[in-house]
Amino acid sequence: MSGLKQTSAPLYEGLRRHIERKPSSFHIPAHGGKAVPEELCSWEIFAYDLTELPSLDDLHAPTGIIAEAQALAAACFGAQHTFFLVNGSTSGIIAAIMATCSEGEKIILPRNAHRAVMAGLIHSGARPVYVPVEVLDGDFPLNVTVSALEEAVVRHPESRAILVTSPNYEGVAVDLHGIRELASRQEMFLIVDEAHGAHFSFHPHFPTGAAHCRADIWVQSAHKTLGALTPGAYLHLGNKPSPEEVLFVLQQLQTSSPSYPLMLSLDLVRRDWALRGRQRLDSLLPLVEEAREKLGSVSGLKLFDEGMLPPDAGFALDPLRLTIFGEGFALARYLRHQGIDVEMETLNSILCIISPWATKEDLDRLVRGVANAFKKFGCKQASKGMPAVDDRGLFAALPIPPLQLTPRQAFYSPSVRVPLQEAREKIAKEAVIPFPPGIPILLPGEVVTADIVAAIEEAIARGLHLQGAPGINSGKICVLKES
Ligand SMILES: Cc1ncc(COP(=O)(O)O)c(C=O)c1O
Repeated sequence: MSGLKQTSAPLYEGLRRHIERKPSSFHIPAHGGKAVPEELCSWEIFAYDLTELPSLDDLHAPTGIIAEAQALAAACFGAQHTFFLVNGSTSGIIAAIMATCSEGEKIILPRNAHRAVMAGLIHSGARPVYVPVEVLDGDFPLNVTVSALEEAVVRHPESRAILVTSPNYEGVAVDLHGIRELASRQEMFLIVDEAHGAHFSFHPHFPTGAAHCRADIWVQSAHKTLGALTPGAYLHLGNKPSPEEVLFVLQQLQTSSPSYPLMLSLDLVRRDWALRGRQRLDSLLPLVEEAREKLGSVSGLKLFDEGMLPPDAGFALDPLRLTIFGEGFALARYLRHQGIDVEMETLNSILCIISPWATKEDLDRLVRGVANAFKKFGCKQASKGMPAVDDRGLFAALPIPPLQLTPRQAFYSPSVRVPLQEAREKIAKEAVIPFPPGIPILLPGEVVTADIVAAIEEAIARGLHLQGAPGINSGKICVLKES
């Protein structure tokens, strides 16, 4: 960092360099750098950057224009009540857990829930009951099935809530009808992390959304799929809990200086989707279908599609998520050089997110770039770090370790970073997440069993990549000190 001068503004200059490349963006945010809806195109950002003046309402106690904008959003998304989130779905997920679960109460959730869920567990003190996630070919995460959740419900009938992620990052949605039924039978809250699925309700070709299945709380990142400014999001409520309870929690979590430009974009994208959403998706879907067909005919290219889903799992796919299997890092690098930026690259795939405003030209550019890449270096697989066929069982067979303390108890206990062998039978403060598939093998509060230690050591020896704990790839992990 030495040599930096006060005359430079590295972030601004970096963003300018990026913008001047004029990339085609196949990533979040959905607006793709074009101001949508059009009211935002010519706005003067400082003119709208206001505060809670008497006529401008107050996000934390809305009675005027913010209350009206939220009421319109509720009607548009099929909710009883909607809150604008200026701290992303992250704050909504934390709020949903805090509003439904108190210290020590159980919540059933997928093993690979977003990290906001861990924050929600720490804030609330809730006790997680983790449910295993279906995986494709050992290294590609799908989602949770109703039967896996049912097993957890039978073992823990006193749980307060079931939380699911639908769709997940890769676009795999769960059987929400089945899960709603299960939750209702046991009088549990149903919370849906629908961060990636705010567009689902605007077209019948998309998987069933949380509103349709009468979720109790669902959270949507409007910046991810609807074109709002980052990190604008919505928290929607069904019949319970009460808006007052949730508002009280949100008041603790959200900034006391909510951004009016952000809230304004939440209001405008709602109006735009209410008026034009269906029509937009009607025009886009045939283009996407055509792009998929063209990609499908590229020699050696494997595209993630519905045919790869387990037949009885009740999963469905978001057509606007394109996963292409192959050597992800090389493929993404090649595309970047062609001016195409993708959402995510892993060792064995890339994920492209199609903006609702994508044009035929955008999609043709992607298809051409990918086809050229495959012509150039085929679907070559990475050698280092890529789970080989025989690595795939390494984590799949590991049972979820026993939970000794809640994440909150673990978070607030004194800890020490130790070599893996010394961590055996101690309680983890950190997570260990092999990536891919991104499903934790260890989470805070769980016992570091001998099996876990052996699997981590084997993974390090094979050069696989582990996330979650800063020192884990060099064989160290943070565990709780013994009292
Ligand atoms: C599944 C899932 N849930 C929640 C979030 C958090 O959303 P936000 O970025 O709006 O805070 C993300 C973010 O990537 C996510 O992937």
